[in-house]
Amino acid sequence: MQTLLVTGGAGFIGSNFVRYVLEQHTDTTVVVYDKLTYAGRMENLVDVAENFAGRYHFMQGDICDAPAVNAALDQFGIDTIVNFAAETHVDRSILDPDAFMRTDVYGTYVLLEAAQKHGGLRYHQVSTDEVYGHIHGDHRSLETDCMAPRSPYAASKAGGDHLVNAYHITYGLPITISRGANNIGPYQYPEKVVPLFVTNALNDMHLPVYGDGGQQRDYQYVQDHCAGIDMVLRRGVIGESYNVGTGKEMTNLRMVEILLDELGKPASLIRHVEDRAGHDRRYCMNVDKLLALGWEPEYTHEEAIRATVRWYVANPWWWEPIRSGEFKEYYQRVYGQRKTLSTPAA
Ligand SMILES: NC(=O)c1ccc[n+]([C@@H]2O[C@H](COP(=O)([O-])OP(=O)(O)OC[C@H]3O[C@@H](n4cnc5c(N)ncnc54)[C@H](O)[C@@H]3O)[C@@H](O)[C@H]2O)c1
Repeated sequence: MQTLLVTGGAGFIGSNFVRYVLEQHTDTTVVVYDKLTYAGRMENLVDVAENFAGRYHFMQGDICDAPAVNAALDQFGIDTIVNFAAETHVDRSILDPDAFMRTDVYGTYVLLEAAQKHGGLRYHQVSTDEVYGHIHGDHRSLETDCMAPRSPYAASKAGGDHLVNAYHITYGLPITISRGANNIGPYQYPEKVVPLFVTNALNDMHLPVYGDGGQQRDYQYVQDHCAGIDMVLRRGVIGESYNVGTGKEMTNLRMVEILLDELGKPASLIRHVEDRAGHDRRYCMNVDKLLALGWEPEYTHEEAIRATVRWYVANPWWWEPIRSGEFKEYYQRVYGQRKTLSTPAA
């Protein structure tokens, strides 16, 4: 019997993880602890509340609020914390980094302190391949590589990882870290590139591709990531970090081609626009350490992109209200003044 506190469990990956864990492990209870920022949505958990009543609880709260975190740990008898809670969008971190430092760094510290004070709870930190920074040549990031983050988002996540490691080394807290690749799938807020482009294309709007679109990413289906985190929680070695991805890369432009093909929409929707400041050109991780635990990704990049497109086509009830709200103002701030490139440069 395990009782998990899943912070950020109302967001994209967190809600998929909650569903995955409750389906896979009938002896597990999950308490979602979430501030419900713009990215945290109760709609993401509607079916979970219906299907797993009794083993699923929700509590609204901020991970920076130590008394509230401690109260949640006491009230539900939590034995394991899985921390998904974060500000997560690179473009927002460039516009306004403040919330990233608070939640991704200070919030992680609050959770670690609470875990420590409750007798050393099992703690898992959900991190990202972006902490490794831009990867040169053919290298694939290893868990032992130095972190070299280049955006405020990546730097705040690297700060969180350093704290998690420090709590293990200094206090012996039983921690693990997973570093996930670019996730795609159901319930991803449409500011992120794949759902943004799918929903733009469905509205016959342009797809603003940053620069020449030659940036390389590992597009991982969210369920594979959730299975990887679950594997690390159950079989990971305490004190260790694990990369979670397919171990392969694809250009953003190829991702767009597959997405448009699945939708039956024309390439003329593509607009190359001025690149993101400090945009990392390539992420790619070596995932052998997680494979050795017995985990394997099920989806290729192409399967993941096509499955994601189909979900957005089938679920306008989820994304249409989002796109008509705060999102419009955000879109204008990020893309409104961005120059269109006639000759896209690398
Ligand atoms: N999306 C990706 O491709 C990706 C890849 C690798 C790792 N990650 C990591 O996975 C985690 C989840 O990412 P996501 O894409 O699901 O993010 P998301 O933005 O969809 O969700 C984040 C969730 O955290 C909650 N939250 C934010 N601040 C909080 C606070 N102070 N207290 C409590 N809850 C708070 C939000 O309400 C939301 O539910 C993050 O830690 C992120 O860094 C994401």
